[in-house]
Amino acid sequence: MNEYILPSAKQARFRNTAYQAPIVYDAIKLSDNQKHLGAGFKYHVATYGCQANVRDGEVISGILENMGYTFTNELKDADVIILNTCAIRENAEKKILGTIGYLKSFKRLNPDMIIGLCGCIPQQEQMVKMIIDKYPVVELIFGTHNIPSLPTLLENVVTNKERNVEVFSTLGSIYEDLPSVRQFKHKAFVNIMDGCDKFCTYCIVPYTRGQQRSRRLEDILKEVNFLKNEGYKEITLLGQNVNAYGKDLAEGYTFSDLLEKVSDTGLKRIRFTTSHPWDFDDKMIDIIAKRENLMPFIHLPLQSGNDEILKLMGRRYTAKEYKELFNKIKSKIKDVAISTDIIVGFPNETEEQFSDTLDMVEFCKYDNAYSFIFSSREGTPAATMKDQISIKEKKERLQRLNERLGYYSKLNNKKWEGKIVEVLVDGYSKTNPKIMSGYTPQQKLVNFSYDNAEIGAIIYVEITQGMKNSLNGKQVHLGKEDHE
Ligand code: SAH
Ligand code: SF4
Ligand code: F3S
Repeated sequence: MNEYILPSAKQARFRNTAYQAPIVYDAIKLSDNQKHLGAGFKYHVATYGCQANVRDGEVISGILENMGYTFTNELKDADVIILNTCAIRENAEKKILGTIGYLKSFKRLNPDMIIGLCGCIPQQEQMVKMIIDKYPVVELIFGTHNIPSLPTLLENVVTNKERNVEVFSTLGSIYEDLPSVRQFKHKAFVNIMDGCDKFCTYCIVPYTRGQQRSRRLEDILKEVNFLKNEGYKEITLLGQNVNAYGKDLAEGYTFSDLLEKVSDTGLKRIRFTTSHPWDFDDKMIDIIAKRENLMPFIHLPLQSGNDEILKLMGRRYTAKEYKELFNKIKSKIKDVAISTDIIVGFPNETEEQFSDTLDMVEFCKYDNAYSFIFSSREGTPAATMKDQISIKEKKERLQRLNERLGYYSKLNNKKWEGKIVEVLVDGYSKTNPKIMSGYTPQQKLVNFSYDNAEIGAIIYVEITQGMKNSLNGKQVHLGKEDHE
């Protein structure tokens, strides 16, 4: 039997500020056998979780296609199924375990089917042990640091018909020149960094993704220029904490430097996510305000509006500081839209503390928000805090919060009624071929009737109705359309 390489909870916690992550160029080299391993076989990658996982899923697809596999959307027809998982909340984990159970029946019909598990769930020591014990159908397990090992691991499973497990809990490397099958031809994700060193006390990400490591500015620009030449109209720069970009690099450049350089490429639309309020500096705001191709949309996770809870969460800003930053962004960036993330029911959150979060929502009147009930994650500091608040109470708070968030997102969307906006066209409505959809610079979803629009073009739409989660409109022509 081969030896499993298992994750270590202790190692995952470790950080070394002097660490310079090794950069591996040309990270995927396939042997002749690996190049043909998938010929005649089909694969499916199911991705859960955040954009970092979506991007990893594109790379995994790229690797599998280079190995000769072809994509299928039908799980039952797939010879290789990869579940690219998320561990952020217990619900996310339960969903995956349910899916594995469901895949068992396909495996019975096709015993050669290979079921693989990757992403953030297998980065947790206790989860891997449990899966090895209880889910024998999962024959391939690899972590977020181990994507380049996929060809070898998969080859071993296929040839030796035995389970392979490789999950490192290292600080991490940077992999360049990865193949990928991107989801769209007009908008793309570009990783600028991986990992997180913020260690918010509720969050599993620093343990599953390793130490923060930024890609070199030159390597990011090379990818952005490549995408621009391929005709991409929009890119989203990705990181758990984009404003901390570069802090781990000897070169000494910052996220504003990167934004400036990426903006200089002339790509039409540039977005980024996620920005932590803690490292958000004036230089960043100024450059976004100045450059037309840096989109006026900022995701600014609040988590809580109460100082004691923020402190317990390890967020390192106060409600007052958040408000100041919020006001600065609103006043300097024209027509900016701001969205947020909020957690309710952090251990022992009182009604009064929760009402500070509601007050903050009244103050910020967010364009959009994601709200969650606190979920205890094994190994994080918050998991050891004894909690007295009932789940019923938490659900009730979530409902009250969502009612206010919904009220403001609708109010903000209604403000667009009668205005003409630029929309990057994504595709056709699933239910009505006469309707297309796309996003405005403020990242608002628009469904619109059209007479002459193509996927990937930036067109003009007059907004006729603003609703809670989207806008309705109709295409208009101003004589300066972009149909490149
Ligand atoms: N790096 C991003 C967040 C990534 S996780 C940031 O700092 O903004 C996305 C969101 O999931 C977080 O903003 C938080 O609101 C939520 N989240 C993270 N851990 C959670 C937990 N244990 N329980 C509930 N929600 C959580
Ligand atoms: Fe998690 Fe905080 Fe890092 Fe975001 S900044 S990924 S919430 S630890
Ligand atoms: Fe989930 Fe991992 Fe992203 S835990 S949110 S997929 S970094």
